[in-house]
This record gives sequence, structure tokens and C-alpha cells, in this order.
Amino acid sequence: MSNLHIIDHPLVQHKISLLRDKTTGTKEFRELVSEVAMFICYEATRDLPLKQIEIETPLAVAKTKIISGRKLAFIPILRAGLGMIDGVTKLVPAAKIGHIGLFRDPDTKESVHYYSKLPEDIAERDAIIVDPMLATGNSAVSAINILKEKGAKSIKFMCILSSPEGVSAIQKAHPDVEIYTGALDVGLNEDKYIVPGVGDAGDRMFGTK
Ligand code: URA
Repeated sequence: MSNLHIIDHPLVQHKISLLRDKTTGTKEFRELVSEVAMFICYEATRDLPLKQIEIETPLAVAKTKIISGRKLAFIPILRAGLGMIDGVTKLVPAAKIGHIGLFRDPDTKESVHYYSKLPEDIAERDAIIVDPMLATGNSAVSAINILKEKGAKSIKFMCILSSPEGVSAIQKAHPDVEIYTGALDVGLNEDKYIVPGVGDAGDRMFGTK
């Protein structure tokens, strides 16, 4: 599983434990999703290219580095991916945001595409798809297909929890896509929810159930 990065920093593990707790309420759940997204984004952006510049400090001229090259776009998969945007844009405020709307057909569990609005220059950007739950992988694979159809060449996938099934689905369909996750759970239940998981991330984040 070489393109799988599990961000098992103690702070991430601690916060994911709080997310798993069924007594964690909507406000705290939303804050935790945003914080964990920020930590995972920190690792997902570790390979951003740098260039050397000179800056005058109050004491001397420093040869120092800043981020250079291609720019980023974050692509939340609606709706639960929206909960990660606040955290990731705290780290990369200049990133553009595209949206991909997919819902899971309750009978077939297949993902159905109903909306997308992407930055016009997506082909020139490094795209990071964000969705808290990588369950069957159907939505993730569809979102990557949509981005590739629009010309995106550099795509990463970021989630808070993943299942082995979801990871395999991405690896099979898109072996070039690096996956960043806070934890790899045991599997899926018959309703295709991640077990032990956090339940329905969208409902818990937006208080819809
Ligand atoms: N979506 C969720 O919100 N939770 C899961 O466990 C799987 C998909």
C-alpha cells in the first residue's frame, strides 16, 4: 500500500477517538473534523516545492525559502467534504476551492454525480480532494475521474477515516493518486458504513439526524 499515508500523530489519534465517540455533539464534531483535516493537510503538502529567496531581517540578509511552483486547489466532495475546508484553508489560504456533488444511491450504494464546479485552471493546479470518509471508494474514484476529465494531472485524496475496501478501490483505478488518512479502519458493514467508524459524518457534522 505504497501510496497510502496514515497520519498517526498522537494529536490526530486523540481527536479521531473523540470523533468516534457517539456522545460527541455537532459543534465539537465539526471543530474536530476541521482540526484533523488541518493536521492531515500538513502532511499532504509536505512535498510542496520550495525556492530560495533573500529577505532582509532586522539584522542581516537571510537566504531563505518560500513555496514556489504550481498552486493548489482543494476539492470537497459534497456534502461532508465541506467540513474539512475550514481546516485546510487555514494552512493554504490562497488555494482555490472546487466542488463535486456526489450522493450515494441508497439501494445500489453507487455514487451519483449531480454537481461540479471547478476552478477554470484546474489542469494547472495540484488538486487535493477532501472527504472525511473513504468507505467503498465509489465517490472517491468518481471524483478523481471527473478531475482527470478536466485535465488535472496531480491529484491527492485526503480523508479522516478509510476502509481497506476504499483504499483498494482507489489504488486499483488510480494508482497515481496518493491517499492521506488519519486511520485505516477494519472494514464496512452491510450498509457500507465504515466500522468502527464515526457513523454518518455528514449527519453528525451538520446535525441532520
Ligand atoms: N459515509 C459516512 O458518513 N460514514 C461512513 O461510515 C461511510 C460513508
